[in-house]
Amino acid sequence: MTDRRETSLRTPLCALLGCDHPVLLAGMGGVSRWELAAAVANAGGYGILGMVRESPALIAAEVAALRAATDRPFAVNLIPAATEPGLLDAQIACCLDLGVPAFSFFWDVMPDVVARVKRAGCLVLHQVGTVEAARIAEEAGADVIIAQGVEAGGHVHGRSPAFRLAGQILQQTDLPVVVSGGIATGEGLAAALALGADGVQCGTAFLATEESFAHPYHKSRIVEATGDDTVLTDIFVLNWPKGAAVRVIANSVTGELGGEYLGHDPDSLPHVTIAFDGDQPRLRFSTDSPLRTTTGDLEAMALYAGQGAGAITDIPPAAARLADMVAQARRIRESAARRDFGALP
Ligand SMILES: Cc1cc2nc3c(=O)[nH]c(=O)nc-3n(C[C@H](O)[C@H](O)[C@H](O)COP(=O)(O)O)c2cc1C
Repeated sequence: MTDRRETSLRTPLCALLGCDHPVLLAGMGGVSRWELAAAVANAGGYGILGMVRESPALIAAEVAALRAATDRPFAVNLIPAATEPGLLDAQIACCLDLGVPAFSFFWDVMPDVVARVKRAGCLVLHQVGTVEAARIAEEAGADVIIAQGVEAGGHVHGRSPAFRLAGQILQQTDLPVVVSGGIATGEGLAAALALGADGVQCGTAFLATEESFAHPYHKSRIVEATGDDTVLTDIFVLNWPKGAAVRVIANSVTGELGGEYLGHDPDSLPHVTIAFDGDQPRLRFSTDSPLRTTTGDLEAMALYAGQGAGAITDIPPAAARLADMVAQARRIRESAARRDFGALP
């Protein structure tokens, strides 16, 4: 039976992506593995696997595990401009061989990469941080623009607040636009829909759930954090181009060395091992965040979180996080509709 309210949050994006609710799981590197993507997809959201710089073997294993856990459509997230070209080529070839239906890309737009996967019939979602990048992504063939604001956790490409950027992009495109950055509640979802956006993308809110592959320490730091505890810094820059900014929970590293944007040069930072994932060393100042499998000095690693962290007070199953968000957004929209109706002459 169709519940009238069940359909009230649906936007054309839901039909395009094949999901029930216009809520996307951000393709968080390390964190958005099959278990989380399946949980979000099975709960009616849209699952995106975070596969930045992962090997084709891991991508194949994650896609197989995801497909075993859900028959919902999904995307694979890659960051073309921050991936060595040979590896990127192999990642994309692997995804196309596997029949991955959609890609989510981030950072600088690489038009030839977009064109390659479009030729193979895939959908392309492109996350951008500026109006200009949105224009380039659309020209390259993207089907969905994700407007990332400066409130976002993880790597942050632009400096505009998410809703301002999304509003500006909406004025120049007919493509579906998704708001990303700082959204952890139904209020944010309702506000995005009221703006005319087609949905939201959430990272931090899903990182702090049972199924995410983040280390429990990272999840608990998000639960304890207020939105004011996050900083935009470029101190976690080893393995990335100079100047790449990330939003993290302030910790001993940002406190001592760069709790702000200072133009740190990756070549001038020392290489000191502070943790391990299996036999893989994790360096101080690197972009790696602590995962389930990480041991060592977790406090000194990049504890990515967006400014919505203050609204996160527990670590529920991802389905419960999504259901709460959707229920709250519905209540807000229904109450706004009642007020509008009451205002009629
Ligand atoms: C732990 C973490 C890892 C991330 N890794 C990626 C990534 O690999 N690729 C990507 O496109 N975005 C990545 N992001 C950024 C997200 O796509 C998104 O912009 C962000 O999570 C939205 O802000 P929010 O965390 O406040 O919801 C990451 C974010 C977090 C929190």
